[in-house]
Amino acid sequence: MMRKVLFGAAMAAVMFLAGCGGGDEPFTPPPGNGGPPPSQLPSPSTAPALKASLAAKFGVVNFPIGAAIEPASTLNADAPLLLKHFSSITAENAMKPLNIWPNMPNTAPAQPAASPNFVEADVIANFAAANGIRLRGHTLVWHQSAPSWLFVGDLNNSANYHAALLQHLRTYITAVMGRYPEVYAWDVVNEAATDTPNAANPYRTDSLWYQAYQQFAARPGGEYVIDAFRIASEVRGTLSNPGMKLMLNDYNTELPGKRANVLKIVQDVINAGVPIDGVGHQFHLQVGADVAQVTAAFTAVEAISTTLVNHVTELDVSIYADPGTCYAQGTIPPCLPDYGASPPQSVLSQQATLYRALFNAFNRPSVQSVSLWGIADNHTWLNTYPVARTNRPLLFDTARDPKWAFWTVVDPSITVP
Ligand code: XIL
Repeated sequence: MMRKVLFGAAMAAVMFLAGCGGGDEPFTPPPGNGGPPPSQLPSPSTAPALKASLAAKFGVVNFPIGAAIEPASTLNADAPLLLKHFSSITAENAMKPLNIWPNMPNTAPAQPAASPNFVEADVIANFAAANGIRLRGHTLVWHQSAPSWLFVGDLNNSANYHAALLQHLRTYITAVMGRYPEVYAWDVVNEAATDTPNAANPYRTDSLWYQAYQQFAARPGGEYVIDAFRIASEVRGTLSNPGMKLMLNDYNTELPGKRANVLKIVQDVINAGVPIDGVGHQFHLQVGADVAQVTAAFTAVEAISTTLVNHVTELDVSIYADPGTCYAQGTIPPCLPDYGASPPQSVLSQQATLYRALFNAFNRPSVQSVSLWGIADNHTWLNTYPVARTNRPLLFDTARDPKWAFWTVVDPSITVP
């Protein structure tokens, strides 16, 4: 590790001298011990491509290593990072139902807009296609992004109402999956599981989907998940992309009690005889996370069926080890106080060490895609969630340069200060 740091510094010195006219000036070592202070990061210019490092580490050619992006990232200074380091892209928001197909304004009962709006999502899909980057689909069904036209129907007649919901689901899923047939994995349903640990009813009930399906006396509210997977698999059958994976995506699968709920839902879909290809683990983690539980999340999915795959879909590592109450309250306290613009090195070092352990845990055949929820620390949802506060959760810093977290992932010989 120290060897690596010194090597990086030596390279930088060589490059500096070369830039000054052939290296014929005598090299004056810096004061002190002649080497960089131990806290010095290797030069950004020496950074290998993340995608190449991970493909080599995992022994998988073109392993999908992704980032969630907004359309702007295809045009601004994010684009070179995407091109160099990432082999997969997810739309951070552009493919969510409220963005693609909102209500038609001023309609009651709600009607869908005359046609879906693919403008923003197309920017991302076109950038991916033009640059040989794979596209992950996020997400078809999510309680937080559900336009109300989806739920309109005859509430007094269960059969009719179910038929209406099915028709809306089919209309939406057919349009969106059909627009992006190249997607290699869809989060068909996002966040269907309840947070109540080991719940008898594994579904979250604060979902318009759950509540709509509760109108059918004979059906448990969670059956919308089965319907969504059934329709998605039928639509997949019409696209010439049989390798497309249909996934159930959720957060906190690293917590055993939440994980049990997610797995029950997977089992419900399987028991219904409906195709499901795997589980997306969001892994919005924080420093101090237990990597053994990350591995346990993968093995639990593997144990259901060896045909199921695991995707890491929204990885980030908050620099705050907040208590659970922080997420419910969204205030400081109980959320930890803001570090401000310059978080302590000790926390960034802790984060880097965790990132290394995580990517070691991701090195198993069932894990077939890893995506971060952002590119660089200049743009992250964690600056506003669960509370407005500076966060630094990704592998690249606010200047888009590699952090210690990047170096620990790509270089096993590097040690953090
Ligand atoms: C987040 C986006 O990052 C934010 O920009 C948006 O305001 C809310 O959604 N789990 C998910 C993602 O599945 O879709 C969420 O993305 C983060 C949590």
